[in-house]
Amino acid sequence: MTTKPIPSPPAYPLLGHAGTGVVDPTNSQGSFRLLREKYGEIYALNFFGRTIVLVSSQRLVNELCDEKRFHKKVEGSVLEVVRNGAGDGLFTAYDGEENWGIAHRVLMPAFGPSQIIGMFPAMLDINSQLLLKWERFGPDEAFDPTEDFTRLAFDTIALCAMSYRFNSFYHQDMPPFIGAMVRFLIESGMKMQRPKILQSWMTNTNQQYEADIKLMTDVCDQIVSYRKAHPTEGKKDLLSLMLEGKDPRTGRGLTDTNIRNQLITFLIAGHETTSGLLSFTLYHLLSNPSAYATLQREIDTVLGKEAITVHHLPKLEYTNAVLRESIRLNPPAGAIGVAPVADSEIIGGEYELRKSWNCVIHIDTLHRDPAVWGEDAEEFRPERMLGEKFDKLPPNSWKPFGNGARACIGRPLAWQESLMMLATLFQRFDIRFDDPSYHLKIKQTLTTKPLGFRIHAIPRQGAR
Ligand code: HEM
Repeated sequence: MTTKPIPSPPAYPLLGHAGTGVVDPTNSQGSFRLLREKYGEIYALNFFGRTIVLVSSQRLVNELCDEKRFHKKVEGSVLEVVRNGAGDGLFTAYDGEENWGIAHRVLMPAFGPSQIIGMFPAMLDINSQLLLKWERFGPDEAFDPTEDFTRLAFDTIALCAMSYRFNSFYHQDMPPFIGAMVRFLIESGMKMQRPKILQSWMTNTNQQYEADIKLMTDVCDQIVSYRKAHPTEGKKDLLSLMLEGKDPRTGRGLTDTNIRNQLITFLIAGHETTSGLLSFTLYHLLSNPSAYATLQREIDTVLGKEAITVHHLPKLEYTNAVLRESIRLNPPAGAIGVAPVADSEIIGGEYELRKSWNCVIHIDTLHRDPAVWGEDAEEFRPERMLGEKFDKLPPNSWKPFGNGARACIGRPLAWQESLMMLATLFQRFDIRFDDPSYHLKIKQTLTTKPLGFRIHAIPRQGAR
């Protein structure tokens, strides 16, 4: 079959697109949106001989999501560098790596529907700490909500999955793990773009990188020691499954090194993204007064002044649609990497993809594909995510949680936590921009969050 060349910006010999400025390492999402506008649904980049193909239309992504033809590819992507800290943890495990299968089968039961409902009281515990703090701030205090959403998501994953308290709301500074993690993720991304020889000369940077990995490792070892000193008497949380669970297929448990890698993975993956989702959602609601009013009306009708329970959550249909629409426009994990299982695959009947290439499902621009979302793809319109409209979206057009067997294991946990947070926040507060002329700026590590976003939380009259 004759195939078409994949469009690509002008490049240097040998270096490829390195140094051409087509991708800004501090804002690759912004660069990829511009490249999508210029080159269309598929384009290729090359860095020092490594080919990366970015795909962003539903018609082509739908093929890349076929797990018989394509699989997750860690090799040659930033995730391979993140393995320096997270090793063979679920997120960074190679496709087919034995420890992925063992951990996946052992840990999946911790995320079943009744386990997630069972986490409700622990989630509410941390949620109440945020609400109390914002109440104490009062209406005049201007603050960055992302910092507290980060505390919330970090403390929630630790308490729900590991029965461990970081007590982040009781400290002025963020937990040291978070600082180390942010530096580690940024530096992992930078390493991808530097020639190896240059990297080896950067002694201070390399020492800081190693120190950050050690700090994260030490925190995880401390969590395991704490558990061994304070057994949870038959409670089956994620950590107890890691320590005691046996794989039903092989009869094997997780090794000590793998447990450490999983803890680092869950602490990172379990909070970065949820905190981004909540922050972007707040931004979109403040920028769209009619969606804000509809959401608050729903919360007033469903919750009124009652204390939230797990039974309120399924009734919050519009709030649910708000989260879906927010994560469409700003997916905190904006890209996933795959490659053909066979030597090559032809997609769309016209483009050949090779096994050695890194193919990227670019979720951020997929979620703006005009063929699916129409002319108003850039607008925040939760109505398009309600009920049947959501169910009838074309396959693989909304992919914020990844694909297939390697999709997000923590999705139900993140969703319950986020629904609860939005519902209780708007039950208690009116939220306003500190600077009404603020326009969204992005802070990027492996995931994205709003930058410089500040709000006021005004306690509502007569709220509970
Ligand atoms: C995988 C997004 C919350 C743990 C993924 C992937 C995406 C994603 C896109 C696939 C990555 C890939 O294919 O390379 C999100 C978003 C979240 C969220 C948007 C919140 C809004 C969470 C939470 C946890 C978690 C709360 C932990 C409880 C993981 C793990 C994987 C993963 C362990 C790897 C799964 C595997 O390969 O077996 N997530 N995530 N995530 N996520 Fe999440």
